[in-house]
Amino acid sequence: MKILVINGVNLNMLGIREPDVYGKNTYRDLVSYIKKSAKKASVSVKCVQSNSEGKIVDYIQKAYRQFDGIVINPGAYTHTSVAILDALKAVGIKTVEVHISDVKSREDFRQISYVSKFAEKTIMGKGFDGYIEAIEYLAKDVNK
Ligand code: DQA
Repeated sequence: MKILVINGVNLNMLGIREPDVYGKNTYRDLVSYIKKSAKKASVSVKCVQSNSEGKIVDYIQKAYRQFDGIVINPGAYTHTSVAILDALKAVGIKTVEVHISDVKSREDFRQISYVSKFAEKTIMGKGFDGYIEAIEYLAKDVNK
């Protein structure tokens, strides 16, 4: 089972950006936490991050027939990007959407998620653990 974990815009700034919202741990910490947990679950993961919407679309397109699942936190593109939604629809790979913060209890402009229209599940407000829950969910689903 191969899972692609995509982090979008500004998630490379974890640990620096708004630590009261996103925590003090860095993007590197996140990747090593994901890799450790994936190993335990016997899942192979690749983690990628980009600030560019087009690059994220490229990652999704290239995942076609290469990955069994996608975990995606598009960052602010969650609330704006029809292009990312269309790319996910195009490849048809099972997707879980993750947000570190509890987006539902935040500003009005964060209340729309285009990715949610394709994602099978959305996990929010659980910090880094949300990514692990997403991986476990996809792993369980594929092994059914
Ligand atoms: C986020 C929530 C988004 O609204 C925000 O723009 C982010 C991070 C989260 O992980 O909580 O960049 O996706």
